[in-house]
Amino acid sequence: MDKFLIKGPNKIKGQVSISGSKNAALPILAATLLFDKEVTIDNLPRVKDIDTMINLLKSLGSKIQFSKNKKTVKISKSKKQNFLAPYSLVKTMRGSILSLGALIAKYKKAIISLPGGCLIGARPINYHLSALKKLGMKYEIKKGYIHASSKGKLQGKKIKFSKISVGATENLIIAACLANGKTVLKNCAIEPEIKNDLTNFLNKAGAKIKWTGKRTCQIIGVNSLKETKYSVMGDRIETGTFCVAATLAKGDLLIKNFNPKLIQTELNLLKKTGATIKTSKDEIHIKGPQKIKNISNIVTKEYPISLATDLQAQFMVLLCLASGRSSITESIFENRFMHVAELRRLGGRIIIKGNKAIIEGQTEFIGAELMSSDLRASAALVLAAMVAKGQSVINRIYHLDRGYEKIENKLRKIGVNIKRLS
Ligand code: EPU
Repeated sequence: MDKFLIKGPNKIKGQVSISGSKNAALPILAATLLFDKEVTIDNLPRVKDIDTMINLLKSLGSKIQFSKNKKTVKISKSKKQNFLAPYSLVKTMRGSILSLGALIAKYKKAIISLPGGCLIGARPINYHLSALKKLGMKYEIKKGYIHASSKGKLQGKKIKFSKISVGATENLIIAACLANGKTVLKNCAIEPEIKNDLTNFLNKAGAKIKWTGKRTCQIIGVNSLKETKYSVMGDRIETGTFCVAATLAKGDLLIKNFNPKLIQTELNLLKKTGATIKTSKDEIHIKGPQKIKNISNIVTKEYPISLATDLQAQFMVLLCLASGRSSITESIFENRFMHVAELRRLGGRIIIKGNKAIIEGQTEFIGAELMSSDLRASAALVLAAMVAKGQSVINRIYHLDRGYEKIENKLRKIGVNIKRLS
């Protein structure tokens, strides 16, 4: 298993270019199952989760043709369609559940492994299932698999999600594109990966999706979608991770290829800690302060209300170095503090009370051997090791490879002493 060897402390200076968004590309790739015609997707990130989604599409019968650099893929339908998303793929990536809406809308049949819990929480899919049922999907759960079918076409309905869910919103938008009549989805997740990218991609292909209210989306079903080429947006969480890195490491960093408006909430928080930030259309110039200020009562919330849960761990590293006490409450997932025990090994002083972390500031991290747990926790450990005195080894970085494209190459270019040990 690969590891990172990081020697610190490091300062950051230079430029970094943001890769395509994993969490935008996954639902877009799943939605290609709706098409009879060829679809070309560009600006894919070269990360493990995308490979898993492509393998799932292949196993479902899609024909895949990558460009040389694997950033562009042409996807077309083969004559032999399958309907089974096996446990071996779903267990490595829960995003596989996004194939359910597309398969049921297009083929009226799907057998998808039920994703189990994962390290950050139980992560049920009850909202996906109950909403698809309202459109006419029938299902039963047998031996760990969802056996789903629909007698005819799905039927458009009014659905109000009882809780905001990224995945359920995506699954329903995808399914409703080919349903009969009008679907109205209320209390939707409005992350840019959904409200901008998934919507723009499907509409470019002829779908009729309109956002009629802040969290309300109306979809008029169409019979088919047309041949389309689409370029995926930049990765919001990779951008946020580099913004935190620059703030943390007294950096001077130009971040390219991301629209700053889509990460305004996090940029405002970084300004509060003392970062100087200048933005233009698709660039962020960020300079870290000499002294990091603490912030109390940050609560992770759905976009765009407050800090993204996918950036909570990275912000915690930053606040460990702040001049006073801070706190972060994790309100999205019930177990997303796996990084805390590892940060303590570097010298971090963090107390957990239920879903709230109280972070004493003024920590001087000292390098140590660390263990990655999940994707974003791993990114946080890299950031902490980067500013720690001495040498750190981060084990199990396959978690990081799921969602960050060549992070070590990008960090090395901006001055970080980091090496991958295979
Ligand atoms: N939830 C339910 N029932 C459902 C669906 C969700 O109880 O049917 C709960 C979840 O357990 C969780 C909350 O609702 O407590 C929010 O979950 P959501 O459905 O919004 O998350 P997701 O679709 O499973 C996506 C991202 C995650 C990101 C979350 C929240 C993708 C592929 N995954 O997950 O990304 O943390 O939204 O923003 O887009 C990551 O990239 O590291 C990652 C975990």
